[in-house]
Amino acid sequence: MEILKLNTTKSGVAFSEELKQSALAANSLLHSGKGAGNDFLGWINLPSSIDKAQLDAVNACAATLRAKADVVICIGIGGSYLGAKAVLDAMSNPFELLHTERKNPTVLFAGQNISEDYMAELMEAVKGHSIATIVISKSGTTTEPAIAFRIIKEEIEKRYGKEEAKSRIVAITDKARGALKTLATDEGYTTFVIPDDVGGRFSVLTPVGLLPLAVGGVDIEALVAGAQTMEQATAEGVAFEDNLAAQYAATRYALYNSGKKIEILGSYEPKLQNINEWWKQLYGESEGKDGKGIFPASVTLTADLHSMGQYIQEGERTLFETIISVEKPAHEVKVESDDANLDGLNFLAGKRLHEINKMAELGVQLAHIDGGVPNILIQIPAINAQAIGALLYFFEKACGISGYMLGVNPFNQPGVEAYKRNMFALLDKPGYEEESKAIKARL
Ligand code: PA5
Repeated sequence: MEILKLNTTKSGVAFSEELKQSALAANSLLHSGKGAGNDFLGWINLPSSIDKAQLDAVNACAATLRAKADVVICIGIGGSYLGAKAVLDAMSNPFELLHTERKNPTVLFAGQNISEDYMAELMEAVKGHSIATIVISKSGTTTEPAIAFRIIKEEIEKRYGKEEAKSRIVAITDKARGALKTLATDEGYTTFVIPDDVGGRFSVLTPVGLLPLAVGGVDIEALVAGAQTMEQATAEGVAFEDNLAAQYAATRYALYNSGKKIEILGSYEPKLQNINEWWKQLYGESEGKDGKGIFPASVTLTADLHSMGQYIQEGERTLFETIISVEKPAHEVKVESDDANLDGLNFLAGKRLHEINKMAELGVQLAHIDGGVPNILIQIPAINAQAIGALLYFFEKACGISGYMLGVNPFNQPGVEAYKRNMFALLDKPGYEEESKAIKARL
């Protein structure tokens, strides 16, 4: 079974020679290293560059954390959070919390917000548990994770003493720069490096994603192997007809130019909900600039058919939809026959839920196409580490190609600085005196 399939026939896009060449040229530009943002292209050959020694080091660190703690708190935001959260949720049983026999430590997240209630309730919840933390920040200076780390570090040191705390704190950061690097060196924490040339939202296959995933029991070798397969399948020189990332990018580009400004990513498997969130950051931060870019939105189905379904079917016709379809579930559940048949569902008796879910998927696809919402279909054989690894790299490669086709630098995010300047000015951060006066006058 192929690791990932793409079907764009229901998007209404015809691949003209010009469109194909433009996608392939964008792919070549990525590989040439001559395009905009070319100091952040380390993700392109990242899967094939990961060797056994790197995976062993990550797995060894994960084993130490797993042995010490039944709750591991991952601290990070944006690209230093979303990949691990997405893959972990995809690969986990959502009801694991109710199981008395736990195979893996619980991985919780912090530093992705500044909510006082979130932090208070997290610290309260871990009171009766042994804890460890992985603090992740490429810049080492991001406010949200830095605040969370202060609080969690203090709790770990208070509980276990400064010496033992060192073996319960792992830092993932830049090799030389930033406050987190300085702190990690001073304190002697185990440290993993985020390569200079890999931006946050492309970092899920570095220790940023791999360590939390290994702690959570995900087979990171299989994840990387899946990504390697997709790296080869989308490499420079692969014909357009075989290069799924180029086809997806070309389809999106054509739809955008025809007035479809919003892409909705959805799936009929709720476990993939946070893949949507990871994808939204990847595409939103990469494409949304210079007054351009497809707005990435998401739905979880069939739940959102009962909320967003109305808009998708009949609202503004600026949408297109991309569905991640899973061919084979891991379990089997059937609808039983019922003598009274009061709900009238005996016509479904003997059918698997998967079959019903698939018919919902097909029915919705056709309804949305009839409603003027073009559809792109991505199929994976099952939710397993290999397929998810392939999916992650597929989206990354298509994102790089899309950004270049659109004519933007897909690897910067100048827009995220604006809120930080205002927040620091409002909080009277030293060095922001002028901004402080100016912003307070506007309140
Ligand atoms: O994609 C990005 O670069 C951002 O979303 C960052 O990942 C995010 O801002 C977190 O940055 P850092 O890892 O430096 O704390």
